[in-house]
Amino acid sequence: MYRSFQARSFAKINWTLDALFKRDDGYHELRTIYQSVSLHDELRLGETRNAIEVICDDPRVPRDETNLAFKAASLLRKVTGTSKGARIEIEKRIPVAAGLGGGSSNAAATLLALIRLWEIVIDEAELIRIAASLGSDVPFFLIGGTALGVGRGEEVYPLEQVRCEHLLLVNPGFGVPTRDAYEKLSRLTSSEAASIIPFTLLAAKGISELPLVARNDLEAPVLAAYPEIAEVKQRLLSLGAKHALMSGSGATVFGVFDNSEIAGGAESELRKFGYWAERVHAVDRQEYHATIFQ
Ligand code: C5P
Repeated sequence: MYRSFQARSFAKINWTLDALFKRDDGYHELRTIYQSVSLHDELRLGETRNAIEVICDDPRVPRDETNLAFKAASLLRKVTGTSKGARIEIEKRIPVAAGLGGGSSNAAATLLALIRLWEIVIDEAELIRIAASLGSDVPFFLIGGTALGVGRGEEVYPLEQVRCEHLLLVNPGFGVPTRDAYEKLSRLTSSEAASIIPFTLLAAKGISELPLVARNDLEAPVLAAYPEIAEVKQRLLSLGAKHALMSGSGATVFGVFDNSEIAGGAESELRKFGYWAERVHAVDRQEYHATIFQ
């Protein structure tokens, strides 16, 4: 009898994202503060004799070896030398290519679930290396909560948790490829880096204020290229958000609200415009790990 597991694969937003300079390897050196949020995909993982198979209800998600969860499973199998297989079923709720880390989260949740399913003993450092090789955001999803990301975002450090109960995620219905967003960055100079680094660190010190001072270097260039995202942001602010910001490389914008009434009103208004809109809360590290395999 083969076993199976259910796992939640949470989305993230970025409270800050400072792109310092383009590195020799083509990636941008980042200082970012990640935050996991309650929106999640449902993953069901079942053991198979030896094949790796991905099933997803969203046709935009590839099911072949280009899928990040597929890549995670095959890399874990290669590194640990197991011959077991897995059937990975993804019920998509996180919009695709939306700046919410959906694919990266699926990959990390797959790694955590397969370690249990295949009963693998793996060194923590090795697991982080596998995650980092899958994508810059993947290691963050091994820890969740509020975390500082440096390097290309793959080196993560847990921070004091940010509390934020009333967030509204809004997506205009199209994706922004991460690579395109980074290519639009124009104001990078290494001399600026000196003044940018302390910003994130200062923000991290005043952690409770982060939702209201959130900022993202990718926002201005992406908004200039996609005016509809700027419109979403404007609508969120006019519907009562205290602050609104594009998440990661977009196109999702999050709004920070004072209470559930105003957030709920904004959610129904924005859905009337045909946008995808979903109320969420910031998930701290404890909730993240307590509910991932609920
Ligand atoms: O690491 P990941 O595969 O998610 O990155 C996707 C693309 O985003 C990269 O190929 C690169 O073009 C861009 N990127 C970047 N700097 C980062 C992270 C991503 O330029 N720190």
